[in-house]
Amino acid sequence: MSVYANVLLVADGPVSLRHTPELLVALRQAGPNVTTLMTPSAALFLPPLSLSLLSGGKAKTIAEATEADYAAADCVIVAPASLRTLADMRQPEWRERLGYGKRPVLAAPVLLPAEDAQAAEKELQELTACGVQVLTPEQDMSFGAMGAVRTASVSRCLEAILAAVTPHDLAGLKILLTAGPTIEDADPARYVSNRSTGRMGCALAQMAARRGANVLMVHGPMSVPIPEVPGIECVSVRSALAMHKEVMARANACDVAILCAAVADYRPVQYSHEKIKKGGEVDGRFSLILQRTPDILEAVGALADGERPFLVGFAAESEELERNALEKLAKKNCDMLCANDISEPGAGFAVATNRVTVFCRDGERIDLPLQSKEDIAAAILTIIRKRLPPKHNGKS
Ligand code: C5P
Repeated sequence: MSVYANVLLVADGPVSLRHTPELLVALRQAGPNVTTLMTPSAALFLPPLSLSLLSGGKAKTIAEATEADYAAADCVIVAPASLRTLADMRQPEWRERLGYGKRPVLAAPVLLPAEDAQAAEKELQELTACGVQVLTPEQDMSFGAMGAVRTASVSRCLEAILAAVTPHDLAGLKILLTAGPTIEDADPARYVSNRSTGRMGCALAQMAARRGANVLMVHGPMSVPIPEVPGIECVSVRSALAMHKEVMARANACDVAILCAAVADYRPVQYSHEKIKKGGEVDGRFSLILQRTPDILEAVGALADGERPFLVGFAAESEELERNALEKLAKKNCDMLCANDISEPGAGFAVATNRVTVFCRDGERIDLPLQSKEDIAAAILTIIRKRLPPKHNGKS
């Protein structure tokens, strides 16, 4: 998912020695053009050439910056920012240069161990009142001789920049997502589950939040980190029954439901509180009796009109993709069904890419190319946006 935009990064203070190179590498991967400016204190620790090498863009001291450097920026971020620089950012000269009100201006303050937390809080509030998006210092970072410093993580800064330069075409929408596998316990040690990692669900959550949606993700045990970004609220469950309960309690308050969890189809009929002992086999065979779990997608599809969100299902198929997908679309009363052939290399479980075909209620079929799960997620959200009837647009 390449993002096209011009970002101006102002690096400040000694913490830039660790934070800025990492942020530049992450930004370069994400796509935007980056110009880096260094305050005098950052320039003491980092030569411009190093930053230029990492970002592939211009890097210079703030004294060398030109009008054109500021004018070209779609978004400005001061990260990391010392409290002293935050105070400077309230002065007319900085406001004018960074362009408050004209474009998103972000700041990631750094709190040093010796700093007075109350004074810092006041500074952050005053800067927020000026129209700067302040990224709360939430991560303790061990920083050599300086001890533990607190700032917004690199991934948090990256996501805030990408959200700031991405059009918010999903603003006001409440999206319910299911993601990951479910685990159906047989005893304290054994369970029935599947190979889902939760990657597709995380990509959908991240892309939707970046585009302004409020995402509620009900997820099973995930093997990939859940994006820690504002706009994503999580409810963690383990079993299909728990996921069913949490989804049904929330579905009618949402505009869109995208159910991409790989819900286990069967669960052990009985949970054994003691570990099941070997030795009870008959002819060397041991039977675990399983029963069907509730079909959550079908249950949401069966909600009455007005209660039912715009409903998107997923289907992992290993044969007869179209026939099976159309059957599920109708049976589970979905508006859209995203199907993928898990027998194809590069598609399905535990890989970074996928090839998805979207089947719509009105018979339209959209074949998306093999691409990253983030790009697939973005394409699916665009199709949803186009097809969402007005009654669902921010109904909550
Ligand atoms: O029938 P199948 O399991 O292939 O359907 C897949 C779709 O149904 C996915 O959207 C999945 O999240 C959903 N599903 C569900 N509850 C189940 C089984 C599947 O919500 N118990």
